[in-house]
Amino acid sequence: MARRTLIAGNWKMNGLGADGVALAKDVAAGAPAGVELLVCPPATLVARIAAAVAGSAVAVGGQDCHGKASGAHTGDISAEMLADAGAHYVILGHSERRTDHGETDAAVRAKTEAAWRAGLNAIVCIGETLAERDAGRTLSVLEAQLTGSVPSDASADRLVIAYEPVWAIGTGKTPTLDEVDAAHRHIRAVLGRLVSGADAVRILYGGSMKPSNAAELLAIADVDGGLIGGASLKAADFLAIAAAARS
Ligand code: 13P
Repeated sequence: MARRTLIAGNWKMNGLGADGVALAKDVAAGAPAGVELLVCPPATLVARIAAAVAGSAVAVGGQDCHGKASGAHTGDISAEMLADAGAHYVILGHSERRTDHGETDAAVRAKTEAAWRAGLNAIVCIGETLAERDAGRTLSVLEAQLTGSVPSDASADRLVIAYEPVWAIGTGKTPTLDEVDAAHRHIRAVLGRLVSGADAVRILYGGSMKPSNAAELLAIADVDGGLIGGASLKAADFLAIAAAARS
């Protein structure tokens, strides 16, 4: 089945107003046809960037949300707030959230339900550590994370999975193409048991994706796009990855 390629930038904790708006506008100005582009700035910039790219091919997303819609949760942001600010997506369960904030699969599942309640698309992140890969546990770790993080009544249309090997994030290292292929095939197979219409779910690869390796990664059958960190902070690099998705 044809899945529309999604090239998503996770800016992480980077970006102040003027530079962030300029970066998003540059991305919007250079957006190639036929690829869906998404930028996920820090929460402070979601509304400004949503306004700056309104009417363009670029969508805006958050990087996390709380499971509840409102309440006494100092410092947290709800999915409804992200939607109100102009977001259409939210990244959930990124390994940096799982490590820095102790997010469990159950918490990620609650956040995914919250995202859908607010009408957002959820990008649920999973990925093995180096120790898990070295122990030959990659596929079982991915399966456990998927089973724990994806709501049982999931439907395909608002779900995106991002496979991000923890050891590949920000390191310049990537799995071999065969390893990425095996991981994405396994994710697709597990999704088939968890989600109705799993063929429509996009599975992104993330972890040191850059212009020089994007074409070969994006050519893998079950790789439906990329979740890009460092290279999403330069419009030229991000757009080169988007262009590679089309070739
Ligand atoms: P890098 O592209 O910097 O490796 O980061 C990937 C990532 O964590 C995207 O969510």
